[in-house]
Amino acid sequence: METNVTSIPIVLIGIGNVGRAVLRQILDVRKHYAERTGLYLQPVCVSDSTGVMYNPDGLSEDVLQSILRARSQSRRIVTLPGAQQKESVQEMLKPGTIIVDVTASGEMLKLFRTGLEHGCSIVLANKKPVAAHWEDVHWLFDHPNVRYEATVGAGLPVISTLRQLRETGDRITAVEGCMSGTLGFLCAEIERGVAYSTAVREAKSLGYTEPDPRDDLSGQDVARKALILARTAGWPLEPEAIEVEPMFPQSLSSVDVEDFMEATVKLDSMYGSENQEAQANGNVLRYIARVSPTGGKVGLVAVPRESAWGALRGSANFIAFSTMRYDAIPLVVSGPGAGAEVTAAGVLGDIMSLINAERKVEHEAGGNEIRRNLGGFYRIN
Ligand SMILES: NC(=O)c1ccc[n+]([C@@H]2O[C@H](COP(=O)([O-])OP(=O)(O)OC[C@H]3O[C@@H](n4cnc5c(N)ncnc54)[C@H](OP(=O)(O)O)[C@@H]3O)[C@@H](O)[C@H]2O)c1
Repeated sequence: METNVTSIPIVLIGIGNVGRAVLRQILDVRKHYAERTGLYLQPVCVSDSTGVMYNPDGLSEDVLQSILRARSQSRRIVTLPGAQQKESVQEMLKPGTIIVDVTASGEMLKLFRTGLEHGCSIVLANKKPVAAHWEDVHWLFDHPNVRYEATVGAGLPVISTLRQLRETGDRITAVEGCMSGTLGFLCAEIERGVAYSTAVREAKSLGYTEPDPRDDLSGQDVARKALILARTAGWPLEPEAIEVEPMFPQSLSSVDVEDFMEATVKLDSMYGSENQEAQANGNVLRYIARVSPTGGKVGLVAVPRESAWGALRGSANFIAFSTMRYDAIPLVVSGPGAGAEVTAAGVLGDIMSLINAERKVEHEAGGNEIRRNLGGFYRIN
């Protein structure tokens, strides 16, 4: 690497499907990005649930490639030479570091708080921290060093659109969305006349659901997205304010996965009749989240077959913002809302957005300010 390049330290927490795609994309783009901007994306720490690889001067390309190889063979970081204890991540946080959370862990808030106190920035694809109780997490919203675009709609510009609407003085009145690729697939299969139990089995075998499909069918993941949208819109709702209608009865919530899969046939006639009734009225069933300043609801809704909602297929997401300015026709963001590559692109976009915000400060301050704001950016020779 040539002189006069400033290195941007990145701590990557989680190296599953999305984490690996983030790391691959960083390795793919960083040379050109450095040539264009003089800034070099440098992972200094990569962690899974078993351990961390850390080098304060930056993990070499060889080490990063060996992590990618090991993880793609289901080997954990703790098995790699030079791996350290997971608990040591907190000690690695230097000013200017960008912490990227691509886990599904609910235990990251302490790390984030310490990170922000140390002058770090945070990027999340993980919904859980931003969907916890408001009192515990309000400080993450509107913080200039925090981004969480990929938590809703993967790589689609959902959060940034909402932020821009607010920043330009618009008033958001409601947000509606189809935001689960898995439940979108299920609805489209039921619409085709496929039995609920067959559609659930199919979604599971294609890897569209979690190993326990109830994690998706419960609607909790969609409810978290609805809550994140509400909070970004400026409504500090609690999780309890979102009413959730799961796509299975409460009586099946505590049986084991195999018993649940067997019991799904008992739900075929119920979902079959709901579908027939909807179709008889020119409608189709879609799993829709709706939020307004006072609360929200997540569940199955009959929508006109000929509408944009009715046309949704596969992993397509559709999020509609009704506002003071977008009143008669809502502003819509739509496209693929799941998958490791597009989610990673959303994460990388957030990393670039944080860097651009700092570059703007640097530019406005005539070049010196970047050192004050991003003390961890350092010249590498
Ligand atoms: N896939 C998508 O389309 C998509 C879209 C939007 C958002 N997301 C979100 O992105 C996140 C990652 O998704 P994914 O599909 O990559 O999940 P994944 O394949 O299950 O990977 C999760 C990773 O996090 C690690 N991890 C878990 N707890 C940890 C901890 N306490 N400390 C350090 N590492 C920890 C896991 O380590 P081990 O392997 O050792 O368990 C694993 O490497 C999730 O929150 C998901 O909801 C995903």
